[in-house]
Amino acid sequence: MEKIDWKNLSFGYIKTDYNVRCYYRDGKWGEVEVCSEETIPMHMAAVCLHYGQEAFEGMKAYRCPDGHVRVFRTEENAARMQATARGLLMPEVPTEMFNGMIDRVVRLNERWIPPYESGATLYIRPLLIGTSPQVGVHPSREYLFVIFVTPVGPYFKGGFSTNPYVITRDYDRSAPLGTGCYKVGGNYAASLKANQWAHEQGYSCEFYLDAKEKKYIDECGAANFFGIKDNTYVTPKSTSILPSVTNKSLMQLAEDLGLKVERRQIPEEELATFEEAGACGTAAVISPIERIDDPETGRSYVFSKDGKPGPISTKLFNKLIAIQYGIEPDVHGWTRVVID
Ligand code: PLP
Ligand code: COI
Repeated sequence: MEKIDWKNLSFGYIKTDYNVRCYYRDGKWGEVEVCSEETIPMHMAAVCLHYGQEAFEGMKAYRCPDGHVRVFRTEENAARMQATARGLLMPEVPTEMFNGMIDRVVRLNERWIPPYESGATLYIRPLLIGTSPQVGVHPSREYLFVIFVTPVGPYFKGGFSTNPYVITRDYDRSAPLGTGCYKVGGNYAASLKANQWAHEQGYSCEFYLDAKEKKYIDECGAANFFGIKDNTYVTPKSTSILPSVTNKSLMQLAEDLGLKVERRQIPEEELATFEEAGACGTAAVISPIERIDDPETGRSYVFSKDGKPGPISTKLFNKLIAIQYGIEPDVHGWTRVVID
C-alpha cells in the first residue's frame, strides 16, 4: 500500500482491496460475493449502458476518536435506493442486504479508512445496474448490485469555507415529473454542461431553479439548499430535487437547536432575505454559500461578506459531524458502529 497523504486527499477514486457484489437472476438475489477486481465484465448491449437503467447511492464511514468506525443513517439510503429502483422498474435491494453488504465492504477495507485527524473519510458507493442485453427500451431482466469504497477528502477545496454559486437558466438537471427525486446517473449527465459552465465563470458550482417556471429554488449542484433567517431553517420543497439524508438530519438538528423549520417553495427573490445559506449533502456535508449570482438579472445575493460561514451554519455543521464521529450522544440513533 503506497503512503497516502490523508490530509490532502481530493474527492476522487483510489483503488481499495475489495468490493462486494450480488446478482439478481431469475427474479431473485443470489449470494453476496467478495471481489478484488475493479472492473465489471458486461455485455455491450446491457440496458444500463444504453438506456441508463441504473441507481447509485453515497455514504461515508467515519473513523472516530473513540477508535470505532461508524456509518450514518444507511437505512435511509437503502430506502432511497428502493424508491429509485421502483422509479426505474428495477428490483429493490432489501435494507438488511444493503446494510450487511456495507458493513462487510467497510470491514474488508479497514486499512483504507482515513485517520480521524485527517478530516478525510471512506466514501461508500452502492451501484445497481441493469445488465441484460437488449436493444428495445424495456427493463432489464438481470441486475448487478455492487458496493465499492474509496477514501475521499472534502468535496470542495478548503473544506468548511464559503463558496460562490451561479444560477443557471440554460440547463435543467431534471423535470418536475422526471427523475430528479431519484439518484440515477442521467441526472448527473444532465448536470455536466451546467457545472462546466459555472466553473468557466469562476464559480464553485451551478445553482438550479425549478425547471418549469424558473421561479423557485431547486438544488445546488449535487447538494440540497438551505437558508437561515429569523431563527428559521428554510429548505425547498420540490418534486425535482433529491431527498437528501443530510438535509433531513439538519432539519431535525435545527429543531433540536430551537430553530423553526420550514420546507416549502422558495422564490428566488427570497434569497435576498436570508442571513445565511448553505449546500448540504454527504459529499458536501455543509458547504456554506458565499453568494449566489443571477447573470440574467445581474443580482447578487450575498450571505457572507468576510468569507466566513455564519454562526448557525457553523453550529449545525459542528453538531452533525460530532454525531457522525461519535463525539456527541447519538440521541436519534442515527449511527451504527461497523468496526469496534
Ligand atoms: N442532491 C443531489 C443531486 C445529490 O447528488 C446529493 C448527494 O447525494 C444530495 C442532494 C445530498 O443527499 P445526501 O445528503 O443524502 O447525500
Ligand atoms: C453525495 O453527496 O454522496 C453525492 O453523491 C454527490 C456527488 C458525488 C454525486
